[in-house]
Amino acid sequence: MAVAKRTFDVVIVGAGGSGMRAALALSEAGLKVAVLSKVFPTRSHTVAAQGGIAASLGNISEDNWHWHMYDTVKGSDYLGDQDAIEFMCRAAPEVVYELEHFGMPFDRLDNGKIYQRPFGGHMQDYGKTPVQRACAAADRTGHALLHTLYQKNMQANTIFFVEWMALDLIRDEDGDVLGVVAMEIETSDLMIFQARATLFATGGAARIFQASTNAYINTGDGLGMAARAGIPLEDMEFFQFHPTGVYGAGVLISEGVRGEGGYLINKEGERFMSRYAVNAKDLASRDVVSRAIATEIREGRGCGKHGDHVLLKVDHIGDAVIRQRLPGIRDISMRFAHVDPAREPIPVVPTAHYMMGGIPTNYHGQVVAPYRTGPEEIVQGFYAVGECACVSVHGANRLGCNSLLDLLVFGREVARQIIEDLQRSPHPKSLPKGATELPLARLARLKSQKDGESVAEVGAEMRSVMQKHCGVFRFPDLLSAGMQKIRKVAERAGNTMIHDQSRVFNIACIEALELDNLIEVAQATMYSAAARKESRGGHARDDFPERDDDHWLKHTLYFSDGKKLDYKPVRLKPLTVESFPLRARIY
Ligand code: FUM
Repeated sequence: MAVAKRTFDVVIVGAGGSGMRAALALSEAGLKVAVLSKVFPTRSHTVAAQGGIAASLGNISEDNWHWHMYDTVKGSDYLGDQDAIEFMCRAAPEVVYELEHFGMPFDRLDNGKIYQRPFGGHMQDYGKTPVQRACAAADRTGHALLHTLYQKNMQANTIFFVEWMALDLIRDEDGDVLGVVAMEIETSDLMIFQARATLFATGGAARIFQASTNAYINTGDGLGMAARAGIPLEDMEFFQFHPTGVYGAGVLISEGVRGEGGYLINKEGERFMSRYAVNAKDLASRDVVSRAIATEIREGRGCGKHGDHVLLKVDHIGDAVIRQRLPGIRDISMRFAHVDPAREPIPVVPTAHYMMGGIPTNYHGQVVAPYRTGPEEIVQGFYAVGECACVSVHGANRLGCNSLLDLLVFGREVARQIIEDLQRSPHPKSLPKGATELPLARLARLKSQKDGESVAEVGAEMRSVMQKHCGVFRFPDLLSAGMQKIRKVAERAGNTMIHDQSRVFNIACIEALELDNLIEVAQATMYSAAARKESRGGHARDDFPERDDDHWLKHTLYFSDGKKLDYKPVRLKPLTVESFPLRARIY
C-alpha cells in the first residue's frame, strides 16, 4: 500500500507544554514545524496540571536556584542527574518570566508580582523550612500555560495536525531517525511525516494503572514507538503515586491544597504526617506522603466503610481562600466526591500520577542509547522532551511543580539544540525501504484478525495486574507473579480483535494501537521493578526497605527486544557547582 508523504524541518509528536514550547521556538526561528496531536492541543494532559511551576523567584519568601537544586537532588533520592538538575533550576526564573511576557495570566500579589505557594519538598536554606516557590494561576496553572503557548504558536505559524496519532518511528540502517508514520483519526488515512528532526513530546503513561490521575490519552505512545524501534527505556520502575487523588475517581486534588494549609487526617482525626515527616509534615516529598497514607490504611487507620482512604481537611482555610486560590479543587470535590471542601474533608488516596522514567536523553533533549560508540551515543535526528523523556531531572521521585518547569526549560533547550543540529545538516536523508512496514503490519493484523481477545478486557487485566503487583509498596512474591502475569497479558494483546472495520473515527482501532504502547510500558515497569533490589524514591520494596547506593546508584535501561536490562551510571557531577553528597533523606 502506497502511503502519502509530507516533508518538514521538524515533526513534533504531542502538543502539551513541552511540545508547544519547543514548537514555538522552532517556528519563531523560521523552521517548518508540524505538531501532531491525538486531541486538540489545548486538551493535552498539561491542561490538568494544577498547582504551579517551581521557580526560585523569591517573591514572597527568600529563595535561590541552588536551594531549588538541592531540593530536587534530594527529592530524586539522588538518582537525578545533577548536571541536568543544575541546568533546570538555574533556568527556572527565566522561563517563568518568558511566560509572563507571553501573556500567561498568573495570580498576582498586591505588589503586582507573581503569586507563589508552598509545595511538597520545596524548602528554604537546604531543607530547613517550606518555601513559597510554586508560581500559580489559581489551581489551573496547566490550563493557563497551555492556552498561552497555543496562542503564541498560532502567531508563529506552527502547523498543527489535530487528531492524528503517530504509529511508528522511521529509522534507517545507520540508526538515524527520519520521521514518523501517522494516522489521521477522522479518516484512518496514513501519512509519512519525513523530517530532519523528530521530537517526541508524547507525555506520560500512568494509564497502565487502574487508579490514575492521567487523561485517557496518556498511553505511552512515544515510549511504545521508541521501544519498537530498538531504543531502551530508562528507569521505568519509578512511577509516582500522587498522595491525593479523589477516592474512587482518581481525579487529581492538587498538592496546592496542602500548600494553602490543608492537611491529611486518618479515621481517628489524627494529623498523621507529623509521625512520618517531623519537619515538613504534609509538605514532605510525594513518595513519602503516599507511603504514609498507604501505611495508615494498611495498619487499619483508613477511613470509610472499607478503611481504604484518608481525608484531606481544608475547611479551616475558609470558603473565601478556597474560592480564590482553589476554585478547580472546589469544583472537583463537589462533582467527584460530593463534598464541599469548605465544610467537609475530601476523601483521597494515592493515585498513579507521573512517570519518572522514559526515553533516555541528555539535557539538550537529544535521545541517547547504547550503540557503537558507547552507552550514551546520540541517536541522530531523534529528540524527546517532557514526561516521555528521562533527562533525568526527577530521578526516583519528582517534586511537585518541577514537571511544568521541566516542560518549559527542556522544551526551549531542545529547540535550541535542534536549530543548531539542522544548521550542521541542512539536507534530509532519503527514507529507507520498508519505512512503513511495521505500522502497516500492525494495522493489517487488526484488519484480518477474525476472532480473538477484546481490547477492553486485555487493557483492564493489564491495569489490574499493574495496580496489584507494582503499586506504592512492592512485594517480592507479587512482583514475580506480576512478571508472569504481565507476560501473559502481552501475549493476549498480540491476539486482540476489533469488530469495527470502518475508516471514520475508528476509536476501536485507536484503542488497540494504544494498547500496544501501554503494554510496552507496563512490561518495562514490571521487569525493571522486579530487578531493582532496594528502595529509592517511588520504588518501595518490602523486602529491601533501604536505599542501597553501593549497588543501585545507577539508571536502569530496559530493552523491549529480549526483555533485557542494563544499567548506566548516575551523573553526579553538576555543570558548575559542587556535587550534593549522598545523604539519608529526611523531611
Ligand atoms: O499537585 C499538583 O498540583 C500536581 C502538580 C505536579 O504534579 O507537579
